Amino acid sequence: MSNSDEWSFPAGVTYLNHGSFGPSPRCVRESRQGWTERLEQQPMDFFLRQMESELDHAAAKLGEFIGADGNDLLFCDNATVAMNIVADSVALQPGDEVLFTNQEYGAVLRIWRRACDRAQAQIVVQPLPRPITSAEEQVAALLAGITGRTKLIVVSHITSQTAVIFPIEAICRAAAQRGVPVCVDGPHALAMVDLNLRRLGCDFYCASGHKWLSAPFGSGCLFVAKRRQQKLSPPVMSWGGSVSGRPAHWQDEFRWLGTRDPAPFLAMPTAIEFLERSGLESFREQTHDLAQYARQRIVELTGLEPPLPDSREWYGSMIAMPIPVAGPAPKQGIRDQLQTPLWEKFGIEIPIIHWHGERLLRVSCHLYNTRAQIDRLIDALHEFGIGRP
Ligand SMILES: Cc1ncc(COP(=O)(O)O)c(C=O)c1O
Repeated sequence: MSNSDEWSFPAGVTYLNHGSFGPSPRCVRESRQGWTERLEQQPMDFFLRQMESELDHAAAKLGEFIGADGNDLLFCDNATVAMNIVADSVALQPGDEVLFTNQEYGAVLRIWRRACDRAQAQIVVQPLPRPITSAEEQVAALLAGITGRTKLIVVSHITSQTAVIFPIEAICRAAAQRGVPVCVDGPHALAMVDLNLRRLGCDFYCASGHKWLSAPFGSGCLFVAKRRQQKLSPPVMSWGGSVSGRPAHWQDEFRWLGTRDPAPFLAMPTAIEFLERSGLESFREQTHDLAQYARQRIVELTGLEPPLPDSREWYGSMIAMPIPVAGPAPKQGIRDQLQTPLWEKFGIEIPIIHWHGERLLRVSCHLYNTRAQIDRLIDALHEFGIGRP
């Protein structure tokens, strides 16, 4: 399966970073433009008489895709907005604790640091064992951070820096047994893995559409368990009611955040249909096989052991592989010394991440990526002196 004419990268670009910013296939871009056209043709008609029912349809389709009721979903620009809504809504008291793993996304930590500072609450960061050997060990290490003051666990479904699929079902189950709610940071999971939020039973799930689902930039969602919906605050205060005059619903506060174009949300079903047409399981298999190929080639090149087992349980379409460390980690905001030359000399877009003393090459594999591109990456790394002496 290639679908490569759905994407339009400039010639000479090897794009191995769908995990940061995933471009949409052509059909999704056209769908988004089509929705914007409908709005532009007759805005009164669109906003007042069409938009809410179209958003309901889109939410129902998204809900089917992630095992949730569309009525429990909010459309948000991205996972960051979703996480801010959660952080503004959980009532923290002085002394409360919010429990994290040591592999959470930096912006998510900042969001919660601000919420905790305001309430004189605390963030507790629990290191998880690495290399990874078993799910039980990972879950036990996280749960060891629970105390009588733990108000919430915030945990990635698939981590950013280390590209690990956490055993999220086991984490949610164990947390529920201890009576601790869970907010899952899940932007990478949408489409990369088979999501079923009903089975997961978390309180909140934050997702972005622009990553593996390849929905438009500016599309994401927040799942909120029914027991939490009435206490949620909107990120932006507006009218708070239905624009079409329907009976009040908890989603109303979040749908009209002032006048804006809802096209990215309305094009999400087209992205889902695109992957369904390709076959979801074959999408997952194909992109995992390529990630596995990249993993093998990087190990051959560096001789460094992968930090996680070679299994779809632990990684999907993205891997983060150690490469030899060369000197101290760059300061925050400064790219790794190799990342820019890989782009400038070879046209290869790939992030190199410094995390807890490891230097990790993160390879993202989507439908348009090929083994030849991975070979090209390996050759380029070799040329830059990465490899066995
Ligand atoms: C684990 C994780 N959480 C949150 C985010 C933020 O996603 P977005 O920028 O789409 O809001 C990212 C982005 O890469 C991420 O990897």
